[in-house]
Amino acid sequence: MGSDTLTITDNRTGKSYVIPVLYGTYAAAGAAIWATDLRQIKVSEDDFGLMSYDPGFMNTAAARSRVTFVDGERGILRYRGYPIEQLAEQSTYLETAYLLLYGELPLREQLKEWTEEIIHHTMLHESIKKFLDGFHYDAHPMGMLIGTLGALSTFYPEARHIHDLVVRRKQTIRLIAKMPTLAAFAYRHSRGLPYAYPDNDLSYTGNFLNMLFKTTELRYTPHPVLERALNVLFILHADHEQNCSTSAMRGIGSAHADPYSALAGAAAALYGPLHGGASGEVLRMLGEIGAPNRVPGYVARVKTGEFKLMGFGHRVYKNYDPRARIIKKVAEEVFGVTGISPLLEIALELERLALADDYFTSRQLYPNVDFYSGIIYQAMGFPVEMFPVLFAIPRTAGWLAQWEEMLQDPEQKISRPRQIYDGDDLREYAPLSRRGAQAA
Ligand code: CMC
Repeated sequence: MGSDTLTITDNRTGKSYVIPVLYGTYAAAGAAIWATDLRQIKVSEDDFGLMSYDPGFMNTAAARSRVTFVDGERGILRYRGYPIEQLAEQSTYLETAYLLLYGELPLREQLKEWTEEIIHHTMLHESIKKFLDGFHYDAHPMGMLIGTLGALSTFYPEARHIHDLVVRRKQTIRLIAKMPTLAAFAYRHSRGLPYAYPDNDLSYTGNFLNMLFKTTELRYTPHPVLERALNVLFILHADHEQNCSTSAMRGIGSAHADPYSALAGAAAALYGPLHGGASGEVLRMLGEIGAPNRVPGYVARVKTGEFKLMGFGHRVYKNYDPRARIIKKVAEEVFGVTGISPLLEIALELERLALADDYFTSRQLYPNVDFYSGIIYQAMGFPVEMFPVLFAIPRTAGWLAQWEEMLQDPEQKISRPRQIYDGDDLREYAPLSRRGAQAA
């Protein structure tokens, strides 16, 4: 018997089963058994066979992935093997997007070509503007983004040919290029401002700032500190392995939907307050607390289970989220330009108290990426409604990299979990006229 196996003894029948173990690159990268190997474990011939029950996918690997590595115990995040700290310090968002998608850092010529291709596709079809105009004046920009993303599939019907590598590559470029434009247009619509067209002489993040904040000046010049800060924030949000929205992207993509529809679904998942909506919730929470001396009272209410501390805790990180550490540094640089946010003092006090409190440490609850990002975004002039949009733009590269990997993986099939049926046994249909009597 090989050592890379598991022997399972079913105490109901006394039978033993030998099941192979799959390994990741190294111990912390995970090991698993094939869930379908459990199906042979039965108590009788007509038994369905054993499944694993895992609501919320707490311990289920849905993919063998080479894109992103997270070690939640040690607070490690790497894209294609490169530590997030090095990428945040030295890379740009577009270079990181290339790395996520193609697995290698680009050579000089490749980066130039990639950047030019993205720039070439930043414009939107004029009809999309009409589509955006149809939204109510106070429509949430994330709702507008999700709607227009889905609508893009009707503009590029060839996107349905998902088995064609050239077609896939074209949509990937379009999506990364157009996301900032869609996001900025949604924002300008909600402010009643005219749309500002892309300026292709600016960097990816510089141009995004231009499309958001340009007013009457002939040429918008982004502040280099804010342009760089946004670049770092985009790098930090570019991918995070099999999170809720990425799983949505893979799940929808597994039915062979076009990438615009799949991405709209992923963005919808990101909209939720437990995922991409958390940074806005953090801001709302800090505003509600109002002053550092009110933090202890708020924390006490969290501990009674009244509500959660937003921006704290993570399904995977059971240690300080490495992205939160980098963001804290970015915050200092941004506040050097914008002035200090009055909410920062409250956030620092909240972090200090929580990290000294057994309730949080025993549950391994630490600040996550969203704890400080909202304060930075607010200082940069973004309204709260834009926060999930600012998450969705960079995550597009991760969603597409994971989608591409899923499509090329011969082990992947249409996503279709099992259930344990816990409902009624067979019942006889009762006509309406007899139901009252039956209930009585
Ligand atoms: N504040 C207070 N208690 C918490 C918190 C929190 N933020 N998060 C978890 N807990 C408690 C939870 O009540 C439970 O306690 P007990 O064992 O006594 O029942 C324990 O910690 C385990 O929590 P869980 O709900 O089983 O953890 P989860 O892995 O299902 O949830 C989470 C992860 C991120 C949804 C959750 O921590 C949370 O709701 N955090 C606040 C929202 C937030 O900041 N989300 C952003 C996540 S990072 C960005 C992203 O990747 O999307």
